[in-house]
Amino acid sequence: MHTHDDAVANGAAPSSTNDTKATTIMTDAFRNADLPIEERVADLLSRLTLQEKAGQLSQYFYFGAPESSDADVHPDQQDALSDDPHMVENAIIAGGAGSALFVKEAATANRLQRLAVEQSRLGIPLIFGFDVIHGMRTIFPVPIALAASWSPQTIESAQAAAAREARALGIHWTFAPMVDIARDPRWGRIIEGAGEDPVLGAAVAAAQVRGFQGDFGAQSVLAGPKHFAGYGAARGGRDYDESDISDSELWNVYFPPFRAGVEAGAANIMGAYMDLNGVPASANRWLFTDVLRGDMGFDGFVVSDANAVRSLEVQHFAKDLADAGVRAIRAGLDMEMCMVDPAFSRLPQAVADGLISEDEVDTAVRRVLTAKFRLGLFENPYVDEAATETILGGTEQRELSRAAAEKTFVLLKNEGETLPLRADALNSVAVIGQLADSKRDTLGPWIFAQDTEETVTILDGLRARLGDDATVSYAPGASIPERVFTSMFDRMDDTVPHTPAGYDDDAEIERAVQLAAASDVAIVVVGQRQNQIGEKASVSTLDLPGRQQEQLERIVATGTPVVLLVMSGRPLDLRWASEKVPAILQVWYPGTRGGEAVASVLLGDTSPAGRLPFTWPRHVGQVPMVHSHYRTFQPEEQGERYWDEQATPLYPFGHGLSYADLEYSNLRLDRSSIGVGETATVTVDVRNDSDRDADDVVQLYIHQRYGTSSRPIRELKAFERITVPAGATTSVSFTLGPDQLRYWSAVTRGFLQDATTIDVWVGGSSEATLATVLEVTG
Ligand code: NOJ
Repeated sequence: MHTHDDAVANGAAPSSTNDTKATTIMTDAFRNADLPIEERVADLLSRLTLQEKAGQLSQYFYFGAPESSDADVHPDQQDALSDDPHMVENAIIAGGAGSALFVKEAATANRLQRLAVEQSRLGIPLIFGFDVIHGMRTIFPVPIALAASWSPQTIESAQAAAAREARALGIHWTFAPMVDIARDPRWGRIIEGAGEDPVLGAAVAAAQVRGFQGDFGAQSVLAGPKHFAGYGAARGGRDYDESDISDSELWNVYFPPFRAGVEAGAANIMGAYMDLNGVPASANRWLFTDVLRGDMGFDGFVVSDANAVRSLEVQHFAKDLADAGVRAIRAGLDMEMCMVDPAFSRLPQAVADGLISEDEVDTAVRRVLTAKFRLGLFENPYVDEAATETILGGTEQRELSRAAAEKTFVLLKNEGETLPLRADALNSVAVIGQLADSKRDTLGPWIFAQDTEETVTILDGLRARLGDDATVSYAPGASIPERVFTSMFDRMDDTVPHTPAGYDDDAEIERAVQLAAASDVAIVVVGQRQNQIGEKASVSTLDLPGRQQEQLERIVATGTPVVLLVMSGRPLDLRWASEKVPAILQVWYPGTRGGEAVASVLLGDTSPAGRLPFTWPRHVGQVPMVHSHYRTFQPEEQGERYWDEQATPLYPFGHGLSYADLEYSNLRLDRSSIGVGETATVTVDVRNDSDRDADDVVQLYIHQRYGTSSRPIRELKAFERITVPAGATTSVSFTLGPDQLRYWSAVTRGFLQDATTIDVWVGGSSEATLATVLEVTG
């Protein structure tokens, strides 16, 4: 417990010098949980020195004791850091740190928290942040996969489970969800988001925020949608490169998921590294103050990305680090995430020099302290270490992870009902590919506290599911080459697999082909390793790495039926496979129990119903490519925009097949005409003409025929994942009103709704054909 004497011993000017220790603590208004948070914040703020205020705004990486192994080094650590743990510990004691990130053991969290609570002058608890992206111990499918479930409920419960595990480790706040719209699959971070579409992105963002934050209770973590804003539009898909985005695209495409996150109550927002239209996002006042707080009504605190405030100088925007700190605060950024020497430590001097007022600093401090009070940290600063292990990896989370994975797979192609496989008709199954039996790759990137060993690979899952029904044989086949430039993430992970030295690709491919030839079916797993996608994992090609394509062609040539499983977080070049392989299932990186989920979908225990959250191009030369492009000159030649390749997608946005026959009919509007600002209801019947229950994702698209601005050729406006029982018909209704029909126009520089004619399509992908027309009158 912090005491009055400590304060005096630390050379501080105590607030009420003539009280006894106990009375001081009791009468400190900021400690009184019965008072409104605003009053507690005001009281505490009045006691802080300017140095302590800058401290509350500083967040340090903490990598543990100096003797920790390399496996604990965070990607942002670079090589600069040597004796940081002591530096961070001293900063905490001196009141120079408000937050720490990357602490992932309950005991360490408590140890550091004791330094803050018991040894710093005012005993202000730390708030611990972490990248809880798709699970802590129990790993869920990667975020792009969760988005492919088109099931906000599934996503919410996945992130609630992740929050539970994170909180059990002493983590209070996650740097998630990543809600950056990504339209260029070369960009590695496409895997962390929900893909190309603002409406799907908004629904996924809100579901994640609800999941993480829950009731703000003891099993919740604060959510921080990131990276505000426009990071996904990095030029050429090159991570960290600048973005140049029109205002129309910002308001209509890039902002909506952030707005949804804010409306769902997100307590935090993280800024972005890159330059947006000539102003670094981290010091972009228009972004943080005008748009985020002004337009969206955000009232939480903004954290920088790692070292991003210092980077304002590196990016030749700020004159020096003092200028960087001042301009970030002034833009509306409240907390600086950094490795060493925060730019914000220069704020006291900047105030003295008249570069910024103390009031401006106070505004940021108030926001940070509010978050700490809201979380109840002053009342409960510590995590219960005894409970940690009983919560981590619990049966409930693991089962949720398996069920979620089943919902994420996208059946891209299924010719001649190749799938589902029938266990009773199989004697021998060949499973081929290094990824089929790689525990680490099955989990995907952006995880740091997993138990890799407990992962169920695709090979494990199939063996368990088929039992004695069939012999499952395995050949790793073609090796997947390593990155040309190594991944910083690999340095923190000693479970990353490497192809053994001397691996003979020729011989292994031959063995795989022979195995396929001798089997009833070949399940070929192709894709990229988990470290070939994610942060700093952009790529220049969508080709299958190594000789996977050649191997696939040879396996198909054996005549054995092939089921292709694609393990990736981005679309890969499947042009050949889309013509020659009968069945293709996109399985992403499916998580801790991914292999079981894959087996149950392959064997037909459940029907796949995932849908693509991005347009799948034929070739990398087509990107960026989206379903919601504009109708421009000679639209009838849209598919022939290149002379050497079709300009259409290989698989459209929203695409995904089912084992059931799902028929759409009877599309109807309750009114064929509405006034601007009014609402119509669109209803469709979905009939399941098969003898199996199946999920379906019903999607509604619109196009505005004329108006103030031209609008995309199709825009997703609503969707619902439903279960249609065998032989049954289910009706689904959607609302079309101002929320769906308004848009931001560069003509009026604001949101508007036109009187116009709206085409409406409902169906199972962005190429839905069932259509109707809604008139909107002025
Ligand atoms: C940098 C990444 O851009 C960000 O998303 C992440 O939260 C931080 N590093 C902290 O790990």
